[in-house]
Amino acid sequence: MSPTVDAEKEEVSATGIGGDGNSFPVGVNLGSTRTVIAHPSEHGSGLQTSRTLTCLARYEDPLTGEEKYLYGEEAAMEYPDKVEYMLRSGLPEGDQTELATQFFEAVIDSHDIPEQSAVVYATPTIDNPEGLENLSQVIEASAIGDQLVESYPESLTGAIPAIGDGLEALQEIFVTLNMGSTNLEMSAYRRGEQLVPFTTGAVTGNEVDRAIANLVEEETQGRVNIDTNTAREYKEAHGDYDEFEPFTDIIQQPGGGTHEFTIERSVMDALDDYLDDVVEEFANQFLPKLANKHMRAYQLALDKPVVLTGGMACIPGIVEAFEERASEELGREITATAPDRADLAATVGAQRIAAELGKQR
Ligand SMILES: Nc1ncnc2c1ncn2[C@@H]1O[C@H](COP(=O)(O)OP(=O)(O)OP(=O)(O)O)[C@@H](O)[C@H]1O
Ligand SMILES: [Mg+2]
Repeated sequence: MSPTVDAEKEEVSATGIGGDGNSFPVGVNLGSTRTVIAHPSEHGSGLQTSRTLTCLARYEDPLTGEEKYLYGEEAAMEYPDKVEYMLRSGLPEGDQTELATQFFEAVIDSHDIPEQSAVVYATPTIDNPEGLENLSQVIEASAIGDQLVESYPESLTGAIPAIGDGLEALQEIFVTLNMGSTNLEMSAYRRGEQLVPFTTGAVTGNEVDRAIANLVEEETQGRVNIDTNTAREYKEAHGDYDEFEPFTDIIQQPGGGTHEFTIERSVMDALDDYLDDVVEEFANQFLPKLANKHMRAYQLALDKPVVLTGGMACIPGIVEAFEERASEELGREITATAPDRADLAATVGAQRIAAELGKQR
């Protein structure tokens, strides 16, 4: 028996989630930081979403000596010293595939999802056919998806909830940035067709976390060392391009006692650099490629809001800050938008596709 996983569940209001009578549509995003699942809620018309950290810890059963596994938040909390993130590079590699399969099985076990379900999962745009094949194996090996299993690019499914209540995004021309933990992806979409996909591993949420950890050490004159998981928590709780407020935290001193400190600059300095880098890649790498290959699509897409998705797009004020800096860099007005919950959007969009495909079968 696999242990249960403590996922953070919440219900979001939604339209068109149901499929028809005998279809149960499920959206999945197996991300490198978090795994998100969305499916129709048990009662009524909502959409149930759940998020789990994509990690595990191994420990030994004290009675049998057997190797045991703990998943998600519990693993990260209880075993910060040996927690393993299986999708560190964005896709499962080598023997991580087996671990990712176990993890996903445990996550699915802790949900009430019928085997006869329609599953759509989001895939990162990374040039790594083997990794993508491994990801597909992880999903196919799970108990769910007997009706169908399909994949769509994460940057497309993430834009779906930003553009309409249904699948309007699949009929439009637009540009989108998927701001994740291991990759920054940019693409244009023309009625669902992905044009000039561009991915960089240099401008990422993980990079921000490392920068915050280093800057905190500097800002506290070497008195405070935090790990990147704590840095990520600071970023998620306090990052705000609009109205950042300095905050305090307390650490245990090695020799006993505690030390209280205040962070004024570290979080926003790291985030400002991040957004400058995002705009730089967007304006000077991605857009010239798009203009070169698809001049018309470039013109049509830039007349519409640029869609920002992925967990980093949750940071308050990022849409306006991006508009300002991109407009300045390009010398023309750029508008942007983000879905309500950018961290859930790729999964919610995948779930809408699953509902539509389920109806058609
Ligand atoms: N509410 C939030 N506020 C700020 N940052 C957030 C929030 N939620 C998630 N993030 C950040 O977004 C990143 C994760 O984004 P996302 O879930 O889109 O990535 P992923 O799919 O796991 O990674 P990738 O696609 O790069 O493999 C992490 O750096 C995380 O700290
Ligand atoms: Mg992602």
